[in-house]
Amino acid sequence: MQADIIVVAAGKGERMGRELPKPFLPVGGIPLLIHTLRAITQSTLVATITLVVAPEREELCRDLLRLHGQFRVPLAVVHGGAERQDSVRLGLAALGPTSEIVAIHDAARPFLDREILDRSIETAAIHGGALVAVPARDTIKRVGEEGTVVETIPRQQLWLAQTPQTFRVSLIREAHAQALAEGVVVTDDAALLERLGKVVKIVQGSYRNFKITTPEDLRVAEALLRAG
Ligand code: CTP
Ligand code: MG
Repeated sequence: MQADIIVVAAGKGERMGRELPKPFLPVGGIPLLIHTLRAITQSTLVATITLVVAPEREELCRDLLRLHGQFRVPLAVVHGGAERQDSVRLGLAALGPTSEIVAIHDAARPFLDREILDRSIETAAIHGGALVAVPARDTIKRVGEEGTVVETIPRQQLWLAQTPQTFRVSLIREAHAQALAEGVVVTDDAALLERLGKVVKIVQGSYRNFKITTPEDLRVAEALLRAG
C-alpha cells in the first residue's frame, strides 16, 4: 500500500520575521523545503507529492526544484490559500482520482524520519486517521486572563501534535468540506476528524521532528544538520 503526500508550504512565516517564507530559507546552504522533500522521498511508501505554495512563490519554487530536486516520485505544484486549512483543502482537491491514503506534512518540518512516516501511513490504512505526536515533556497549565493559573492538566494525557497527519482520502475530504461549510477553522487536520467523532490513532513521533517557526528554531536546525 502506498500513500500520496501533501506538503504545505504556502504560509507567510510571520513569526520568522523574514521577507522569504520559511520553506525557501536556506538551512546549511539548502532551502528548508528541499530538506523536507528529501526526507519524505526516503520512504518507499510515498507514491506522489503535491506541493502547496503561495501563487507569488510558484516561480521561485520551480527554480529551486530545478536546481535541487531530483526526486524519485512525481511532484505537482499547486496554489495554497489564506489559512493552512485552505492550503490543505486545495492540496486534497488536486490529488488523483485513485488516491486512497494521504499524508499531510508541514514543509517547515525537515527532520522527519522515514520510519515515522511509514508507520503513520500504515496506521491510517488500518484505522482511517493517524496523528504523529510526542508526549508533553513539560507540565502544562491552563492560565486565566489575569495571568493566574487555573489548573494543571495531567501530563500523562498530553501529546504535542506534529505532522505528518495521515488519513483515508475520503474521510479527510469529507471533514474539510464540512468544516468549510460550517466555517470551522482549526490548526491541524486531525482536529477536523475528531469533531466528526472519527478515530485518530497516535503514532509516536520524535522531538527532532519539530516545526521551524522562529529565528532560534532556524539556528537549532543548522546545528542539528551540522551534527548529522
Ligand atoms: N501553511 C500553508 N498555508 C497557509 C499557512 C501555512 O501552506 N496559509 C504551511 C506553512 O508554509 C508551514 C505549515 O503550514 O509549512 C505550518 O504552518 P506555520 O508553521 O504556522 O507556518 P506559517 O504560517 O508560514 O508561519 P507563521 O504562522 O509564523 O506566519
Ligand atoms: Mg501559520
